[in-house]
Amino acid sequence: MQINPAVNQAINKQIGMEFGAYLQYLTISTHFDVEGLSELAAFFKAQAEDERDHAERFINHVVAFNGKLEIPTIDAPASNVKTVEEAAQLSLDWEMKVTEEINGLLKLAGEQGDHITENFLSWFLDEQLEELSTMNKLLKVAKRAGANELAVDEFMARHRGQQSNNTNADG
Ligand SMILES: [Fe+2]
Ligand SMILES: [Fe+2]
Repeated sequence: MQINPAVNQAINKQIGMEFGAYLQYLTISTHFDVEGLSELAAFFKAQAEDERDHAERFINHVVAFNGKLEIPTIDAPASNVKTVEEAAQLSLDWEMKVTEEINGLLKLAGEQGDHITENFLSWFLDEQLEELSTMNKLLKVAKRAGANELAVDEFMARHRGQQSNNTNADG
């Protein structure tokens, strides 16, 4: 059995998005690392690793389904993100866009009668909801903290246990 070509193509595009997110979160993480905001750096590093995992999940699906992997050109990440609020806003906007993409993929898979891919994508729906919620929360905290970015870093430190539990639960 072989994957539907249109679905394969859409998945390849999505793999590019996931690697793009990996590069974006890695860039944000590095910025905070340089600024000495190590909890924020660790948070965005973990987000970056999640995105690489997403790309790998899609790649594994292509392999399992006898598809063809064609990774598209990946846009350079924004490197001008300076504040926590900017980072959170950019991440939230990104995750909303990805959620739309996943919804589009699901719609396409449904139209093509590809229920295996539809089923595979259901994990990503849960994952997107979790990421949207996490970034929304970070944005709220960043807005409250204003110029006191150290307060956000301390907030992240207090919530680290909770986050790593969530990460472990996701595998
Ligand atoms: Fe992702
Ligand atoms: Fe994401």
